Amino acid sequence: MHHFTYRDGELYAEDVAVRELAAQYGTPLYVYSTATFKRHFQAFDSAFADLHHLTCFSVKANSNLCILRLLSDLGAGMDIVSGGELFRALSAKVPARKIVYSGVGKRAEEIREALLADILMFNVESVDELRRINEIALEMDKVARISLRINPDVDPKTHPYISTGMEKNKFGLDIEQSLEAYKLAQTLPGIEPVGIDCHIGSQLTTLEPFLEALRRIKDFHKKLKTLGLDIRFLDLGGGLGITYDQEEPPHPKEFGQALVQELKDMDLTLILEPGRVIAGNTGILVTEVVYTKSTKTKHFVIVDAAMNDLIRPSLYQSHHGIAEVVPQQRPVRNVDVVGPICETGDFLARDRELPEVKSGELLAVFSAGAYGFTMSSQYNSRTRAAEILVDGANVILARKRETYADLVALERQCLQE
Ligand code: LLP
Repeated sequence: MHHFTYRDGELYAEDVAVRELAAQYGTPLYVYSTATFKRHFQAFDSAFADLHHLTCFSVKANSNLCILRLLSDLGAGMDIVSGGELFRALSAKVPARKIVYSGVGKRAEEIREALLADILMFNVESVDELRRINEIALEMDKVARISLRINPDVDPKTHPYISTGMEKNKFGLDIEQSLEAYKLAQTLPGIEPVGIDCHIGSQLTTLEPFLEALRRIKDFHKKLKTLGLDIRFLDLGGGLGITYDQEEPPHPKEFGQALVQELKDMDLTLILEPGRVIAGNTGILVTEVVYTKSTKTKHFVIVDAAMNDLIRPSLYQSHHGIAEVVPQQRPVRNVDVVGPICETGDFLARDRELPEVKSGELLAVFSAGAYGFTMSSQYNSRTRAAEILVDGANVILARKRETYADLVALERQCLQE
């Protein structure tokens, strides 16, 4: 459920006409809905009300400061994967003790920054990393709270690029290695092992892989107890999917019930790292039709948003709903919606049934709130889109559109004087 609805013949973001936003701020334009963020966060978080838990929003899904602030106000912690994301979370005044830090390649500087901030814990993905964190913590006269990220070797049955918990993936440690790594962690004076972590993939549409991973982790937890470790946190990562097209993922409530059932006898604080299920349907990408053209076999709708703005269709062949901002009764035809970038892979939709739109009209690309703006780039020297956050009838320019000057701001001109 989201708050982008048609009223009086046109698309609204809450109480604001999307057409007016496009007129004022230009296109391509990301528009997010505060009410949808609140609704999704609360639906997810309340599903775990029966357990001690902390919902850490996965910053990579949508890292705009206004969004992080909004979620933090609702009680969210954050799951980060870089020094940059730590900087964003701290800039949005997220309490450091609600931040968990995942990722296979944390650099020394990033570890230092996180120790200095005193984050809740590091989710450690290799023995090398464990030793590195220990050394840095000792240098800084600190003790780092850590979880080891376990790779439970479960097939999440999602796109191969976003499956992370299988043996062949680069993430985490397998269960046997993990036991040895916990034993090592116990001996390292700069390390305090406080949790177990796992994340098996993204856009999961069934519960079974989560439950299978959880069973393996529970067995592992029993083994760990024999080491006498004080494990207080169980981090199950993110990954719950959303409906882009025909998918029917479990509702967060079902997800919660299933996990609570498995965990209720364990005296642990559950950490979750949802990204997409919170943010995915909170945002749309608004784009203007620049031209249309037909070839012998195809009809193209050329829009002003491209793969640099929303790369998901090109990268994962993912489906995003597309509709007119101001619908008109017109015949439908089969089209490719493509952007201006010089690559055949630059499309937002292929073989899509759309009304016969014309140049100058606006289209909304739905489900663009997660992994939309955060994966955008300046490829083809395109300025990144602006981001708007709507709250009822209020409009916040959450991020300005980049300018040409921004494109070259960090470069030398190298002109011969
Ligand atoms: N925790 C960890 C350690 C992760 O690696 C991820 C996502 C999450 C949490 C959040 O997962 P979510 O709840 O959003 O599924 N760019 C891709 C998705 C990549 C996900 C990477 N890791 C896409 O656009 O589909």
